[in-house]
Amino acid sequence: MLFPEGVAIDGRRGSVEPSTDKYIKRLSDLRGLFRDEAALDRAIAKGDAIAYEVIDYRKSESDLAFGTTIMMPGKVGDEYFMTRGHFHARRECGEAYYTQSGEGLLLLQSRQGEVRTVEMRPGVCAFIPPDWAHRSINTGSGKLVFVWFCATDASHDYGAIREKGMRRLVVERNGKPALVDNPNFA
Ligand code: F6R
Ligand code: ZN
Repeated sequence: MLFPEGVAIDGRRGSVEPSTDKYIKRLSDLRGLFRDEAALDRAIAKGDAIAYEVIDYRKSESDLAFGTTIMMPGKVGDEYFMTRGHFHARRECGEAYYTQSGEGLLLLQSRQGEVRTVEMRPGVCAFIPPDWAHRSINTGSGKLVFVWFCATDASHDYGAIREKGMRRLVVERNGKPALVDNPNFA
């Protein structure tokens, strides 16, 4: 049987206490994601920085799960550090991303290929409708920390985004983030 509990989330560090699981993605785990592969190789050779960490509070007996994503600042070439991006395997499952600290952009793409963005800054809770792929991008100079909430069994479907990429990229132009067409979008 499950019992209620208070879970302490630190909005700056992104820690979740207690948590049920966590993982780290380094730049070397993100091969194929950035368009400048030579820049990625150089960054990996220079120390293979952590790009992001995900901490879960997920109980299989409950329909609701939440946790944090902690994204480091940085760029590969002119592209900011980003998450892999995914649809949910259960297409009827949406999600919410509530930004706690830092700044970024949430890039969303519907199954039909429509693209939208939602600014990520403290106080903004982004609504991710069902069947929209979502990728978060840290466009700031510090950590980007957000709390996410979704169905426990929403499950990730990475295939489409991994194979085709997303229609738009977020790159630095004149010191600022800019949304540009992805020349390699399949
Ligand atoms: C869960 C969710 C987030 C992401 C996390 C990492 O549905 O959207 O917890 O999984 O921000 O992003 P991905 O999984 O795209 O590497
Ligand atoms: Zn998701």
